[in-house]
Amino acid sequence: MSAFAIVAGAAGGVESIARELVKPLVDRGHVVGVTLTPTAATWLQASDLIRELENLTGLPVRSTPRLPSEKSPHPKPDVYVAAPLSASSVAKLALGIADNQALTSLCENVATTPMVLFPRVNAAHARQPGWAGHLAALRSVGVQLIYGDDVWPLAEPRTADPGRALPWAAIIQAAEDSL
Ligand SMILES: Cc1cc2nc3c(=O)[nH]c(=O)nc-3n(C[C@H](O)[C@H](O)[C@H](O)COP(=O)(O)O)c2cc1C
Repeated sequence: MSAFAIVAGAAGGVESIARELVKPLVDRGHVVGVTLTPTAATWLQASDLIRELENLTGLPVRSTPRLPSEKSPHPKPDVYVAAPLSASSVAKLALGIADNQALTSLCENVATTPMVLFPRVNAAHARQPGWAGHLAALRSVGVQLIYGDDVWPLAEPRTADPGRALPWAAIIQAAEDSL
């Protein structure tokens, strides 16, 4: 049994994390704590999915910082799984911009705890001038990116099927392999 920290942002597929990512890990006997960006928390709250995640994991879903007097409600993770992460949050992580609880947690642990990251991006995001540098910076400290034509060919904006499944099997396999 290992402890997994799932960090998810406001990107396509976040509505599936309970079924496709968290439940398979819980079913394998792992402890799973979920942290969301503020926007992702708003999206999942609107669909009543926060409660489903909390029922599955038995832990509170985090999206706001704790009070200085409070302890973290999640166990110390053996591995971080950042999936799906938006282009914006990937850039922030690479630059060390920890302006919400999800990024704080990733930024603090990026070079010390195994981290698997799925950037849920399109071809326009990848044309941003800083993008290649952000990926290189993350790889240089050992972040394992689930990225490339073999796992997630980039589509032009608004051309892909909105229900396109994320590469969940590759994400879970990489996370378990990194333990
Ligand atoms: C319906 C919808 C879907 C989106 N999907 C994506 C996406 O798949 N990837 C992405 O990088 N941004 C996507 N965005 C834009 C992000 O939500 C936006 O950049 C947001 O600020 C990211 O915040 P976060 O990373 O803090 O969650 C989407 C926005 C909307 C409204």
